[in-house]
Amino acid sequence: MPVPVILDCDPGHDDAFNIMLAAAHPRIELLGITTVAGNQTVEKTTLNARRVCTAAGVRGVPIAAGMAEPLRGPGIVAPDIHGESGLDGPEFGEPDVPVDGRDAVTFLRDTLRAHPEPVTLVPTGPLTNIAAFLLAHPELADRIERIVLMGGSTERGNRTPAAEFNILADPEAADVVFRSGLHLTMIGLNVSHRALATPDVVARVKALGTPLAEMSAALLTYFGDTYREVFGFPAPPLHDPLTVAHIAAPDLLTLVHVPVAVELTGTHTRGATVVDLDGVTGAAPNAHVAVDVDVPAYWDLIVDAVRTLGRPAPTGGGLSR
Ligand code: RIB
Ligand code: CA
Repeated sequence: MPVPVILDCDPGHDDAFNIMLAAAHPRIELLGITTVAGNQTVEKTTLNARRVCTAAGVRGVPIAAGMAEPLRGPGIVAPDIHGESGLDGPEFGEPDVPVDGRDAVTFLRDTLRAHPEPVTLVPTGPLTNIAAFLLAHPELADRIERIVLMGGSTERGNRTPAAEFNILADPEAADVVFRSGLHLTMIGLNVSHRALATPDVVARVKALGTPLAEMSAALLTYFGDTYREVFGFPAPPLHDPLTVAHIAAPDLLTLVHVPVAVELTGTHTRGATVVDLDGVTGAAPNAHVAVDVDVPAYWDLIVDAVRTLGRPAPTGGGLSR
């Protein structure tokens, strides 16, 4: 049976591939997409989600816009990595998929109430929407199967030496999620920095020869340029699709069940995920943390998704649910 999933994202080049992977993989039932301020403003991340679904022929999947600001304090964006649009690189036409009339929290409430089985939430941006939902609807916690998030790190950060962008963008929201008691899987930089979209990967995508493949290769090329300029990386780490890839292929990642705390007050460390890998705190484990990844298998999943969605649509329109 496919796994029912709602993506919560801030597209974002890597979020874009997560949308495609979720829409394409047969083990995933994509119930909806909620957007959040993160890589760019929520207006831009929502437009980008619509652009990706239009380009990939993903129709009939609701897109609901979420929170514009973090729970506390000013928000941060990442134009140095994702550009002013949040999805710089390819040229996009006008999107032909609508925005849902509900906000993200209302969409989550309605969808979790209505779905016959508990739903897996897959946040790959700041955790603002997820925390706002948990705070507003504690009665629906049992309708959540698990949360599989991209964020944090067992080692260094990226936006600061200590903090990864998604967590730093809203540490209070992350604290709500990590204290929720829900089944939580954390996929952090310690693993995603090994999932580099090398020139071989870009060539495999480009060789698919479809307009979607061209768009995907252009996204990877832009993402690679910014990661080289800002971080000196030889290739861009495709962080977010590790979440859906883990759900679709559970053997892809190696996880450890350990305590994770979110630093909220450190002068130099606010937004850090403090991962107690050795159990020295005596705290109860609250997250399944990724510590290794099968990189070749990961790229096979990504290339297969672009191939599947890029095929000429059967008569009667694109992929619909
Ligand atoms: O730190 C990487 C994460 O922050 C990714 O999810 C990227 O899209 C940005 O949201
Ligand atoms: Ca993201």
